Amino acid sequence: MLSDKLETALNGQIRVEAESSQTYLSMASWAEVKGLEGIAQFMYKHSDEEREHMLKLIKYVNERGGHAKISDLKAPKTDFGSFQKMFEELYQHEIFVSKSINDLVHVSLEEKDYATHNFLQWYVAEQIEEEALARTILDKINLIGNDKGGLYLFDRDVKLIAVESAAAEPSE
Ligand code: FEO
Repeated sequence: MLSDKLETALNGQIRVEAESSQTYLSMASWAEVKGLEGIAQFMYKHSDEEREHMLKLIKYVNERGGHAKISDLKAPKTDFGSFQKMFEELYQHEIFVSKSINDLVHVSLEEKDYATHNFLQWYVAEQIEEEALARTILDKINLIGNDKGGLYLFDRDVKLIAVESAAAEPSE
């Protein structure tokens, strides 16, 4: 059985993952409208992944005798300025999510809930991967600069990054 404090903290993370999914969905739509098809595909896929992160938490909370609450969400912005700025925002957002997961791990230890601590290790590992991926993408973007041919190749390649990461996901 989850303690009230941990249940509240887990519900907070459910909201963070849901808002992440909405943020990346908004980024996908923006990129699609701008004709950045590969980037849009990457973001749609990323949005789906965040929804999976949310669902995994919902199922866990309910399985442990808690109640996963579906709340209203903060609306994401709809204009991201440039694809460079958008990926910088994605990186900063993942750093925020990592911090949120860290805080949650801290609560699980305070509450001496070792099952939840164990469950959260998947998220800890996932955040390391997500931050590393975002940094790799930012490095590529820096190399491109304002080169149009570079952007064409980046838009093509980032789609492949998304496919690779999907293949690396453990199936459940
Ligand atoms: Fe679910 Fe990208 O953190």
